[in-house]
Order: sequence, then structure tokens, then C-alpha cells
Amino acid sequence: MQKIIAANWKMYKTRPEAAQTAAELALALADGTPHDRLVLVFPPFMAVDVVAEVFTGKKNLAVGGQNFYPAGQGAFTGEISTGMLNDVGATWVLVGHSERRHVFNESDELIARKTAFALAQGFKVMLCVGEMLHEREAGRLRDVLSRQLSTALDPLPEALSGALAERLVVAYEPVWAIGTGKVAGPVEVQEAHAALRALLADILGETAAELPILYGGSVKPANAFGLVGLDNVDGLLVGASSLEAQSFLQIIGS
Ligand code: 13P
Repeated sequence: MQKIIAANWKMYKTRPEAAQTAAELALALADGTPHDRLVLVFPPFMAVDVVAEVFTGKKNLAVGGQNFYPAGQGAFTGEISTGMLNDVGATWVLVGHSERRHVFNESDELIARKTAFALAQGFKVMLCVGEMLHEREAGRLRDVLSRQLSTALDPLPEALSGALAERLVVAYEPVWAIGTGKVAGPVEVQEAHAALRALLADILGETAAELPILYGGSVKPANAFGLVGLDNVDGLLVGASSLEAQSFLQIIGS
């Protein structure tokens, strides 16, 4: 399976800053990505177009939107549509990121609607899941992951299920490891990823074996190599360490 290394730039970088970092990445990866990896960047909305422009024609580099509202258009002040993202060159979207769930109170139900909507619009979806520290400590890791996956994927219309193998990626991001410097240890990561693979098999059957499962949460150049080599870890979703091109390039090359 091709490993995916993704950058989530969150609410960082103006357009010129994003263009500069994207250009550094594109230049360094001009002859292809190390190990033929797929590299994704999720810039803030205002910079999606400039990053997409820099990545035009570059094999293995793609751009995504960090968020959207699941409707074609309408009176949704402050929101952005998949059509608008498509217009500026995004082909991927993040859904269910921990900050959307916990800072903006997105429900499992909204996340399910967003997943189905983006897939129906032809987008590739990176569905993020992950437990909070108190849930892990209460022994509820599997329950939480099961609820998050099944609510997002169970109601998928039959017509979309066929597209999943090519267009769905799951990212495991334990909430307690995001932006805290506390990376999950190899045992914890492997336990969660094995649980996710089994849960996906329950929901989706054979397709589950083909779905990439990424790890995210305090990934850095120093720990990326160890993480990406673990069983069932098919890539990485990187926040803070993706903001500087040099550090993200080291992670891509890990
Ligand atoms: P950090 O890498 O900054 O912990 O962020 C992880 C994340 O939320 C990526 O989506």
C-alpha cells in the first residue's frame, strides 16, 4: 500500500507564506517523493488555490480542504462548499478532525453527513477518529473508535461503498497526543490501528484491508520513522511539524 504523508496546516500561514512552503516542498520533491509516497497538504482555505497552483502537474502531491459544509450551496453564513474547494484545486477533505469535534462541537451525525456528502461529490476523504484521555483511561478506546467509525460509515449509500477503497482514508489521532508533544507509544498505536482495521472489516467487509490508516498526534522528524514502520500504519497526519518545509520533508523521507 502506498504510504500517505499529510500536512494539516490548521489556522497557520497567510497566502504568501503558504505559497513559499509549498514551493519549497515542490522543489525538493521535483524528482518524485521518497519511497513513492503520496504527499497531501491541507492549507487554510485562503491558501488552497496557491498551494494547488504550485502542485499542478506534480505527481504524488495533492491538496485538500480542512473543512466544508455538506450542502451544494445555501444560506450557511461562514461556511464553504465542496464545489468551492473543487474550484480552487482541492481533491481531498478532512472530516471529523479532533478540533472540529471538540472545539467546534461537531457531532457524529454531522460527521456522517459530511463523509457521505464529500464522497458523493467525488472527493477523497480523510476521516479522523480518536479517543480523549479520560476515555482511554476508562478502557473505552475500542468503544469510542467503534462509535466514531460506525456512525460515519454505516449509513453510507450502497452507491458510495464501491468507491471507498480508492477514496477513503482513516486517520487515528488520539486527542491527548495532538499538539501536546505526547506521542502515542508503539504499543498504543498498534493496538488502536489493529482495532480500527478489525472494526472497518466489520463495517465494510473486504474493502477494509485496502483502506490506509494513518497515525497523527505529535509526529516529528525524530519519531516518524518508528511510527511509519509499525503494522497497520499506512502513513502519518502531521500538524506542527509540517509547518516548516524542512521538517516535513524529513518526515516524508522517514
Ligand atoms: P500535531 O502534529 O501538531 O500534534 O497535530 C496533529 C494533528 O492534529 C494533525 O491533524
